[in-house]
Amino acid sequence: MSNPELRNQIDPDKLPRHIAIIMDGNGRWAKKRALPRVIGHEYGVKSVRTIAESAAKLGVKFLTLYTFSTENWNRPALEVKAIMALLVKTIRKEVATLQKNNIRLRTIGNIKALPIDAYNELQEAMALTANNTAMDLVLALNYSARWDIVQATQSIAEQVKQGVLNSDQINETVISQALNTGNLPEPELLIRTSGEFRISNFLLWEMAYSEFYFTDMYWPEFDEEAFYKAIIDYQKRERRFGKTSEQIA
Ligand code: IPE
Ligand code: IPE
Ligand code: MG
Repeated sequence: MSNPELRNQIDPDKLPRHIAIIMDGNGRWAKKRALPRVIGHEYGVKSVRTIAESAAKLGVKFLTLYTFSTENWNRPALEVKAIMALLVKTIRKEVATLQKNNIRLRTIGNIKALPIDAYNELQEAMALTANNTAMDLVLALNYSARWDIVQATQSIAEQVKQGVLNSDQINETVISQALNTGNLPEPELLIRTSGEFRISNFLLWEMAYSEFYFTDMYWPEFDEEAFYKAIIDYQKRERRFGKTSEQIA
C-alpha cells in the first residue's frame, strides 16, 4: 500500500494528541551492516526528522522521543561522547526544520547535567522555537521516569515543609504537575522499535493507560509508512479505562 493510501486510513478525529516513542535499535541496525554503532545513531537522526515532520503534518500535538536515558551514561565513554556530539550537531542543524514545520522544541529530563555545549544548544533552540504552535517536540534527555518521580517527590515535600501545601492535599493532579511532564497531556500511544517489549524507565506514571505498539523495525528504518501503520493500529483499539465495552459504545 502506498503512503497516501495508508494516510487516508487514518481517522483525523481519532488522532492521538500525544505520541511517545522509544527509539531503539540504532546499534543493532549498524551492526547488521558491519558499521560502527555511532553510524546507527546518525541514521537514527534521519528517522527523527521524518517522524517529527510527519507527526506535525498529521496534526499530532505532542511527540515525545526517548533520546538518552539516565542509564545510557553507563555505555562506553566513547559512545556517550559521540551521542552528545551528535546531539549538538543535530540541534544546530535542525532548528531550520523545526521553524519550517512550526514545531516547538522542549525537553524532559535533567538537562542541566548534560555537557555544557549540549545544554546551551538546547536552550538556544528552545528559545528560538518557543512561539511555534503546530506541535511540541519533546526530547527526553538524561531522563528516567524514576528520576522524575524522585524529583517530583522532593519538590512536593519542600512545598509541605514551606507550609504551602498540606500532605492531605497531595493527589494525582499534584503529583502529575510536579513531574517534568507536568504540562503535557498523557500519551495515548507509545511506540517502541527494535523488537524489545519493555519500558526501560520511560514515562512510568504517564503511561498508566497508554496503548502500546511494538515493531521489530530498528529505529533507523522506521519511516512514515511504519508510523502511519502504528497510528492505524492504535485507532482500531477500544480504550476502556476500566469500564466495560458496552459502556464505551
Ligand atoms: C537507541 O538505540 C538509541 C539510544 C539508546 C541512545 P540503541 O543504541 O539502544 O541501539 P541497540 O538497542 O543497541 O540496537
Ligand atoms: C531506551 O533504550 C532508551 C532510549 C531509547 C534512549 P535502551 O537501549 O537504553 O534500553 P534497554 O537497555 O534495551 O532497556
Ligand atoms: Mg537499545
